[in-house]
Amino acid sequence: MSDLHGSRVLLGVTGGIAAYKAALLARLLVGAGATVDPVLTRGAGRFVGAATFEGITGRPVRDEVWQDIPGETHVALGRAADVAIVYPATANVIAKLAGGHADDLLTTTLLAATCPLLVAPAMHTEMWEHPATRDNIAVLCRRGVDVVGPAVGRLMGGDLGAGRLVEPDEAFERLVAQLRAARSRADDLAGRRVLVTAGGTHEPLDPVRFLGNRSSGKMGFAIAAAAAARGAKVDLVAAPSALPTPPGVERHDVTTARQMHDAVFALVDVVDVVVKAAAVADFRPADVASSKVKKSDGAPRLELVANPDILADLGARRAEGHPRPFLVGFAAETDDVEDNARAKLTRKNADLLVVNDVGATDAGFGVDTNRVVILGRDGSRTEVELAAKSAVADRVLDEVVGRLPAS
Ligand code: CTP
Repeated sequence: MSDLHGSRVLLGVTGGIAAYKAALLARLLVGAGATVDPVLTRGAGRFVGAATFEGITGRPVRDEVWQDIPGETHVALGRAADVAIVYPATANVIAKLAGGHADDLLTTTLLAATCPLLVAPAMHTEMWEHPATRDNIAVLCRRGVDVVGPAVGRLMGGDLGAGRLVEPDEAFERLVAQLRAARSRADDLAGRRVLVTAGGTHEPLDPVRFLGNRSSGKMGFAIAAAAAARGAKVDLVAAPSALPTPPGVERHDVTTARQMHDAVFALVDVVDVVVKAAAVADFRPADVASSKVKKSDGAPRLELVANPDILADLGARRAEGHPRPFLVGFAAETDDVEDNARAKLTRKNADLLVVNDVGATDAGFGVDTNRVVILGRDGSRTEVELAAKSAVADRVLDEVVGRLPAS
């Protein structure tokens, strides 16, 4: 039986010459056993008739927010969908989705939907390459939208370039992959307890100053959110961060590396997995002034002492014969990235090490996207291309789940 059998697919069609290909995609989806809800924008309706989609899907075509007000069409359609795709997606609808607009049935429905969303752009090369479109696509990627294509090829009017809609079979395969991933992840961490550390520790110098680092906590918070969504009981040990606590997660706020060490070791016997996404200060000021250091006292001389290495201490505990917890470290590197990371994995006795090149501007500290390599103690190496931190979080957890002993 196909992965799509019994699933509900929301097929958004927008106004481009390639809209006719949406009929072929609808046919592939129906053939694989999916129920397809076509939603056409007004522009799409000028390229392909609603009757084509009604005939293929056996479902009514919706194109107006004003239809079926008591049934709340947009909310009902959004809730019912297991996966949604906009195929083709014009520059205009991409801009509207990025801006959170809701001025027709498709954009309203997608704002109400919580399922995975795929967007397949189709437009002229100049429009695709326009900074406004680039920015809008970046916003969608950061939110975890799967942008499929566009391909390079023949465009309307005989032009050649980037902007061509991907073929229906390629969109179909990506949709199946999204659905398969969402299904296999559902509750695959049920019954497990996962501890995540996040953010950058602060090491006080005096009552108003501290030594810190550029970690925002976004990656760790994304892992905590993803683990909770997959059924785990999650403890998040968070260094100072303004990020909201993800739903279903128990948060333990700490400030310094030593407090983080204590919070982690208080839970170490009851958790199955520790993910150390936090950027922990390796050193702290030897003395903390009890009152504010004054400028008039001259430049202070800083003497630093080493903080405990939490991950290394967890690894050492494992080496003493404790089989749990499974240990995931992160490595922030700028030079000889993978060689340094492999050495770190061995030195700290972790099971997995997620390697960030923090020298890049679109990955690592502070941004919503990341690009990582996941190294395994077993010698494995998994590359995760640039994606929303939420998507990277799921890829990291996929690697964990596959290695956990049966519970
Ligand atoms: N880590 C830790 N305790 C510390 C320092 C780091 O638990 N005192 C953890 C981090 O949470 C991360 C991993 O160790 O999971 C690697 O952190 P990183 O800063 O890359 O490595 P360091 O050990 O600090 O090594 P270096 O600064 O020399 O690269």
